[in-house]
Amino acid sequence: MITNTELEYKGNLYPNRVVDYVRDKDKFYFTSENGVILEITVIQDRTVRFRYATENNFQPDFSYAVDPDAKRGYNHLEILETNTEYIIETAKLQILVDKNTLRNQISDLNGNIINEDELGFHWEENYDYGGNTVKMSKITQPTESFYGMGDKASHSNLKGKRLNNWVMDQYAFGKDQDPLYKAIPFYIGLHSGQAYGIFFDNSFRTQFDFAHERRTTTSFWADGGEMNYYFFYGPEMYKVVRAYSNLTGVPELPPLWALGYHQSKWSYFPESNVKDIAKQFRDLQIPCDAIYLDIDYMDGFRCFTWDKERFPEPKRMIKELSEDGFKTVAMIDPGIKIDKDYWVYQEAMENDYFCKRADGPYMKGKVWPGECHFPDFTNPEVREWWAELYKEFMADIGVHAVWNDMNEPAVMEVPTKTAPLDTRHDYDGYPCSHRKAHNVYGMQMVRATYDGVKKYVYPKRPMVITRAAYAGTQRFSSTWTGDNVATWEHLWIANVQVQRMCMSGYSFVGSDIGGFAEQPSGELFARWIQLGVFHPFCRVHSSGDHGDQEPWSFGAEITQIVKKFIELRYQLLPYLYTMFWRYVREGKPMIQPIVCFDQEDMQTHFRTDEFIFGEQILVCPVQEPNAQGRRMYIPRGNWYSYWDDEVIEGGKEKWVAAELDTMPLFVKEGAIIPKYPIHQYVGEKEIEQLVLEVYFKIGDESSTVYEDAADGYDYENGKFSLRNFKLLGKDDELIIHQFKDGGFETSYSSFVINFHGLPFEIGKIEIDNEKVGVSEVKLKNNRTMQLSKEFTQLRITSK
Ligand code: GLC
Repeated sequence: MITNTELEYKGNLYPNRVVDYVRDKDKFYFTSENGVILEITVIQDRTVRFRYATENNFQPDFSYAVDPDAKRGYNHLEILETNTEYIIETAKLQILVDKNTLRNQISDLNGNIINEDELGFHWEENYDYGGNTVKMSKITQPTESFYGMGDKASHSNLKGKRLNNWVMDQYAFGKDQDPLYKAIPFYIGLHSGQAYGIFFDNSFRTQFDFAHERRTTTSFWADGGEMNYYFFYGPEMYKVVRAYSNLTGVPELPPLWALGYHQSKWSYFPESNVKDIAKQFRDLQIPCDAIYLDIDYMDGFRCFTWDKERFPEPKRMIKELSEDGFKTVAMIDPGIKIDKDYWVYQEAMENDYFCKRADGPYMKGKVWPGECHFPDFTNPEVREWWAELYKEFMADIGVHAVWNDMNEPAVMEVPTKTAPLDTRHDYDGYPCSHRKAHNVYGMQMVRATYDGVKKYVYPKRPMVITRAAYAGTQRFSSTWTGDNVATWEHLWIANVQVQRMCMSGYSFVGSDIGGFAEQPSGELFARWIQLGVFHPFCRVHSSGDHGDQEPWSFGAEITQIVKKFIELRYQLLPYLYTMFWRYVREGKPMIQPIVCFDQEDMQTHFRTDEFIFGEQILVCPVQEPNAQGRRMYIPRGNWYSYWDDEVIEGGKEKWVAAELDTMPLFVKEGAIIPKYPIHQYVGEKEIEQLVLEVYFKIGDESSTVYEDAADGYDYENGKFSLRNFKLLGKDDELIIHQFKDGGFETSYSSFVINFHGLPFEIGKIEIDNEKVGVSEVKLKNNRTMQLSKEFTQLRITSK
């Protein structure tokens, strides 16, 4: 074993022998002779926090990431002491603290090592800024893989990569470019069938090395602040994400329209152009729920103003669009134009709300409107003011949702692309420089936006979108992956980024479908739509420099394909909404890479393209031109091909045919997939029937459908409808049980049931133990029937 004295090289300092130990309920403090204190806090049986002080001195304990409502509590906690170590035991974990080095080893209760320190905590003093560069190194376990880390545009398995977190405006970024727009210092490790997570809650620039520099070492460090990380144990990957989501939070349920298809461009103007686009959607009967106004609606790019020539009466326009089923989403940026005649600027100056440089001057940066000042959103008073700015915008003019962009903050014409590092921030009463506040700046902006939007659209639900994010931003806002490019490689990137974000606790995410920069071919656009309709946030957006990017911009054939897939999304809305409900309730990723679906199958550990949409639909986009299909890995189990009901046994690679008008799409056997009829926008008409697509299986499988009023908060008072279906199939019998909960009355009164793969001819039908005739359920072709939504048990048997 390496001793710590040998390690004091290159200015690195290490804790030495433990001289003191104190327990305070769920907290344990171990102090080393040279003044390092390790604080271990047991948050839950599988969630433990590790925090290190140097010079016997902790910094104030404050985090923007941690959800104030995070649940805490454990079932078991004790500490034992041996000659060489302390051992903390929870109901799930054992944590060893070495008495000579303060190093830790974490194992499950059977003694299987899950994670262990290599050098453990060490640090380097920072003369220039004060404080330390804080570092942690861990042993990379044999066959260990790494996932998560927000929006990294790299292979989903991060083994061998070194990455850093510093939110950045990265126009037309490339594969493996790093950092991008998000800073989510959270990763999942997987080895020996066990998954765990580490969240390094430090808002300075953080770096992660996943066995890149040394094959045997995984390490992470930050330019300042504390070594302060949370450890989450699975052993299943989704439980790791769930524990991380418990700590950093989940969003509230969005209005259902937010899950519809959205159309955006930089920019639609004037009003007549917006109206034309809207009309095209309705004329062509391509479903759409929202239209976006990019910066050109503003008067000289001044936030919260309108260009009166382009949009003379925004209130009327928004109302008219809304009568036709369109929500209007408007962009708001952080930079406030320096203009003494502009009321937002005046208010901020009067109240001293703009960020200042270390020596006193205001921080200045060039963005769309020219020279700007930037509100200090890390000041709670500034956030309150910002939230109030939405009053007229939302409550009076009627904007439905807000899109916060450039909130890294992006600054033009400077090499760092952002604010100078000496810019001062309030940081909620813990004043600091931009080195510490940079990564949370956009998060605090969108948090203030969320508060304002929520207040002024009430009693409806808020919808907010952000570009920049730090861990925890998912509580306030949906997000998109920034300024991508219309290339096939970017289609691949969008796929991994969205899966990765979902595994990083941030499920409400999508890409600019079709690519932001440059112009996609019709084929690329169609393939991207096919992927995009399976992303939680589904929006076409483009810079508009190179041509149009609406569903009908690429000729009749592509229009038909795009229409077909957008229609599919609208059919699947109850399934998607249920996914969202589960995400909110359980922190379950809405999209799972197949490694999360079946981590025990090593074949899944290095796959990037296939993913599970919700829990029962397997999706694999075609990501190459001129493809008639593709090879893909089908996870273990039996799957129905969505298009022709062919049953495929998984656990193997397979060539799947997929001409341009189709894509590889499979349904897990036993699943009951809910569908609405095709509609042009959420709320267009009453849903008269819920279609249940029943995929027969020998054995059992559970499915869920969650519904409510699709907006508003009545669901919090029991006005929801939850249906749990349990399917039980045998050679000559199929039973479906329905368990209902909640006091919401859905508009439909009956189900249409479509059977897939039924292996027998229906002879007898029983509903709630009573025999019914074939005509009563309108049985057709042995395939479809109709019955009351109230049934609790349907039993069909063979002739
Ligand atoms: C940024 C955004 C992009 C937007 C543009 C103009 O590049 O990422 O979505 O269209 O600014 O506002």
